[in-house]
Amino acid sequence: MIHLTIEELLENNRSWVAEKLTSEPDYFNQLAAEQKPPYLYVGCSDSRMPLTLYTKTEPGEIFVHRNIANQVSLTDINFLSVLDYAISHLRVQHIIVCGHYGCGGIQAALEGSTTGLVDNWVNPIRELYLQKKLEIDSLSTREERINRLAELNVIAQVKNLYQTSILRKCLREGNAPQIHGWVLNLKTGLIKDMQLKTSEWEWLKPKFQ
Ligand code: CO
Repeated sequence: MIHLTIEELLENNRSWVAEKLTSEPDYFNQLAAEQKPPYLYVGCSDSRMPLTLYTKTEPGEIFVHRNIANQVSLTDINFLSVLDYAISHLRVQHIIVCGHYGCGGIQAALEGSTTGLVDNWVNPIRELYLQKKLEIDSLSTREERINRLAELNVIAQVKNLYQTSILRKCLREGNAPQIHGWVLNLKTGLIKDMQLKTSEWEWLKPKFQ
């Protein structure tokens, strides 16, 4: 892959703005006025995971939080602030937790292969792997093992969402957004909806009770 220079990035920005203004002269005035995105996307930091491109959405439609291996961490003040703001102020209607096959963070959790802080960050996923070891180790290829753990991780992170005080408050008040678990296949560009039965998880006993 040939990477653009910094100058080319800025030039691309100018030509993109010019194109937008040709078709919609008021585009940026409207964009600057407010944001009312219906979606919160919790995704992996991986450079191949800009959900807007895969879903043909525009600026203003998806509020975003990304970290390595798309984790919902109950101690991450960054994530919790995003979640609180998305729910309390933006009133998003949907939360999408989207992982991906071939995820380096998942691989690190499965194989303990990195050298550095990532190992600490993905440790909860390593714990998940140890819980599901029989199922994952029974798969015949490394790729299948990494991809299955990516799916199980999405399920675990959606369950974690139901452990947040922020979401539990909206569930009690009857105005919670719908939660979706997706996995994107980088080899096809297609998104798999995990069809999670989230309504069954709404009353999961919080870990702190
Ligand atoms: Co990833």
